[in-house]
Amino acid sequence: MIPDEGQAIALHRKYGSSERIVNHCRTVAHGSKILSSALAARGKGVDPAAILAGALLHDIGRTMTQGVDHGYVGAGLLEKEGVDNVVVEIVRRHVGAGISPEEAASLGFPKGDYIPRTLEQKVVCFSDKMVSADMIRPFEEEVRRFERKGHDVGRLRQLKKDIQDELGEDPEKILLPDV
Ligand SMILES: [Fe+2]
Repeated sequence: MIPDEGQAIALHRKYGSSERIVNHCRTVAHGSKILSSALAARGKGVDPAAILAGALLHDIGRTMTQGVDHGYVGAGLLEKEGVDNVVVEIVRRHVGAGISPEEAASLGFPKGDYIPRTLEQKVVCFSDKMVSADMIRPFEEEVRRFERKGHDVGRLRQLKKDIQDELGEDPEKILLPDV
């Protein structure tokens, strides 16, 4: 099943997510919805229900771990709950700007690809990168955070470009029209 908003929040309650996590997820869902509608308006085939559920549930694994493993931990938890695989994969692939199979192996993750590949996966991953706590803020702030942490900035910029190519305009301008 693809949880609706009420069911997604009920899952957060069941697993004991903090208000901070729930509010963060709601903000990422807000941004994801805007991008999902913009893509649909341009005739792009996206699954808005999967995007909404994936965005609302992307950090549910933080109830178990604060590490980079919270993506696949959350995905496993949702799988166990009978959540549709399309949502599970959004959650599994949202960490950073994605984690390659090689990086995953060196981190000791279960074998696999953790890079967002579908438009639904990319929209939620990008929206998450645009949100700090419960606020949408400029993309360059996330670039600086990636730089500080030694993450792959090229991959982050590519994620934004992939969405821009589908939208025909800058997704940041849609999320932050006044910046
Ligand atoms: Fe996360």
